[in-house]
Amino acid sequence: MADKNKLDELIKEMEGAVLEEAKEIYTERTLEEAYNPKNVGELENPSGTARITGPCGDTFQIHLKVEGEGEAGEAKGEKILDCKFLTDGCGASIACGSVVTELAKGKTVAEASRLTAEEILAVLGGLPEEHLHCSTLATETLKAAIQDYRNQTRIHTRARTRALRSQSMSG
Ligand code: FES
Repeated sequence: MADKNKLDELIKEMEGAVLEEAKEIYTERTLEEAYNPKNVGELENPSGTARITGPCGDTFQIHLKVEGEGEAGEAKGEKILDCKFLTDGCGASIACGSVVTELAKGKTVAEASRLTAEEILAVLGGLPEEHLHCSTLATETLKAAIQDYRNQTRIHTRARTRALRSQSMSG
């Protein structure tokens, strides 16, 4: 039992040391987002999805749910209702995922497609040089998920137009 207490103490000491080291490298906001990230997971029947593996070898995934998806004439009003991410990357990529999904939610698809890595960095208060690419991976994946949504919408709209045309021709 005494050994278990010692082990627990040692683990606590090590965790404390890791946190102290992390505090020297990352801003408080980055640590907060990395340890308590928002919007982690996947969506059922997403409107758009993307999964990208960055040059570091880590993979980032985004799922989007868009309001009014696939409705012709809705192009300007399409809003991102929900946005979730998964990553097997570093702590910085988790923080970036949390921020990019929060920034995307509630924006129109057009607005969200203009989000930049700099905007994520501004929220986090910056990242160490060797982790700047993590923010780019997050925004690139968001843009790819939006592109996937746009491709799906185009396919739906074309199919609907074709169905309407053949209906009016047969009627
Ligand atoms: S996502 Fe690969 S190092 Fe951060």
